[in-house]
Amino acid sequence: MRHDTDRLLPSEAVTSLDAHLAAGGGAGLERALELGGDAVIAEIEAAGLRGRGGAGFPTATKWRGVRDTARAGGARLTLVANAAEGEPGTYKDRTLLEVQPYAFLEGVCIALHASGADYAVVGIKEKFTTPLARLTAALQEVVAAGWSHADRIRIVPGPDEYLFGEESAMLEVIEGDLPMPRIVKPYELGLGATTASPNPTIVNNVETLSHAARILANGADWFRQAGTQASPGTMVFTVVGDVANPGVYELALGTSLRTLLEDIAGAEDVKAVYSGVSNAVITPSMLDTPLCFDAMSDAGSGLGSGGFVVYDSSRHIADVLSVLVRFLAVESCGQCNACKLGNTAMSESLQRVQAGEADDIELDTIAETVSGVTDQNRCYLPVGSQLLVGSTMQAFAEELTSTVRERRSTPADLPTPLIESIDADTGEVTYDPRYHLKQLDWSYADQDPAAERLRAIRRT
Ligand SMILES: Cc1cc2nc3c(=O)[nH]c(=O)nc-3n(C[C@H](O)[C@H](O)[C@H](O)COP(=O)(O)O)c2cc1C
Ligand code: SF4
Repeated sequence: MRHDTDRLLPSEAVTSLDAHLAAGGGAGLERALELGGDAVIAEIEAAGLRGRGGAGFPTATKWRGVRDTARAGGARLTLVANAAEGEPGTYKDRTLLEVQPYAFLEGVCIALHASGADYAVVGIKEKFTTPLARLTAALQEVVAAGWSHADRIRIVPGPDEYLFGEESAMLEVIEGDLPMPRIVKPYELGLGATTASPNPTIVNNVETLSHAARILANGADWFRQAGTQASPGTMVFTVVGDVANPGVYELALGTSLRTLLEDIAGAEDVKAVYSGVSNAVITPSMLDTPLCFDAMSDAGSGLGSGGFVVYDSSRHIADVLSVLVRFLAVESCGQCNACKLGNTAMSESLQRVQAGEADDIELDTIAETVSGVTDQNRCYLPVGSQLLVGSTMQAFAEELTSTVRERRSTPADLPTPLIESIDADTGEVTYDPRYHLKQLDWSYADQDPAAERLRAIRRT
């Protein structure tokens, strides 16, 4: 089910470059070329565009900052478009690539032009076959049509791991390695960096770049007609879980979370909501919070990449927490001991709670473990787990304690909310059917781990 505002999500999928041009597409790139790089960045700054990949970082600040770093060091500059979409509960980037790949490609060309980057790489999961095919075909069309900068865009299919979407791990994959986050961030050391040339890289999300095209076409004031002063524009949200109408919905930022979850997605009797796995739990008392970056963090959670997983009061919080923490334990790459071992220990404890085999000490142990899970972390994954676990244990302390004291087992029937597909007509959601088989070493329980590892290496 899709909800359109005629901003990014079109009412009908745009299936050819001719259709894109007939609907006014291409105007953003045309105007950007007339304006020149500095003026393009100034327009994005005036629009107040903030990244839609999770952190809400101001896009113009990123473009200008990385460009200036590269210029000062006489280094090459590159651009990476992040289409990994690995956050549980999120399906908007794949939707955008399927229904409007041209706006995204226009945004990539504009970013190349504005920043002066040499080339752009789109990192997208190999398993996203339909969006990948649409993107590849659209890229061929815009190159054949002679779009400025389009011949400098390359697509790199990548692995299924969550960390593929972490920006420095994406650089590793593009360079042919496994998705292991680096200590140094892409804006310092980018693609093909050497000690002589740091080659800083700009990394932007698919939706961010798609908005950039519309801003250049329609102007900063048009963009600001929707949204709030600090979070202007619209955002493409995903809602799944215990709702009547799961789907992808584009709404003005500043709309209340309650409007999205209850009025649009049809949630009832909400117990706990998660915006991916990188933020604190959202409880019913927070539902009137406006959907904008600052208000969501002031309320104690975060907007993330706009994907919400809803659990109603029929769910046991131990089941909810367990399925999310298991995901984090599996996906942690193990370069930092506290992250891999801590998330794994918490996941195992929660499984004992679910089985009715835990005692009081188990909850204290989880609380102690979560406080150290970020020790010497290279990336943000364990920060997310600390926020998620800490907040959930606090908000649902009574339920967790009574579950443990009464040695009650829980149904343990929740899937990992990693979305495989959402049917745009019926709203039917399919989750990754094999995720429960994924092991701590990224192999699958029904496959030979050595063969899997080789496959992953050959693929990259
Ligand atoms: C563990 C982890 C996974 C991430 N996965 C994604 C992802 O799938 N897609 C994405 O755009 N950003 C993801 N991010 C955020 C990126 O690192 C990066 O901040 C983002 O792509 C920047 O784009 P933006 O400024 O346009 O938001 C992830 C971050 C972390 C820590
Ligand atoms: S913090 Fe965790 S996921 Fe990130 S690099 Fe370290 S072990 Fe890997």
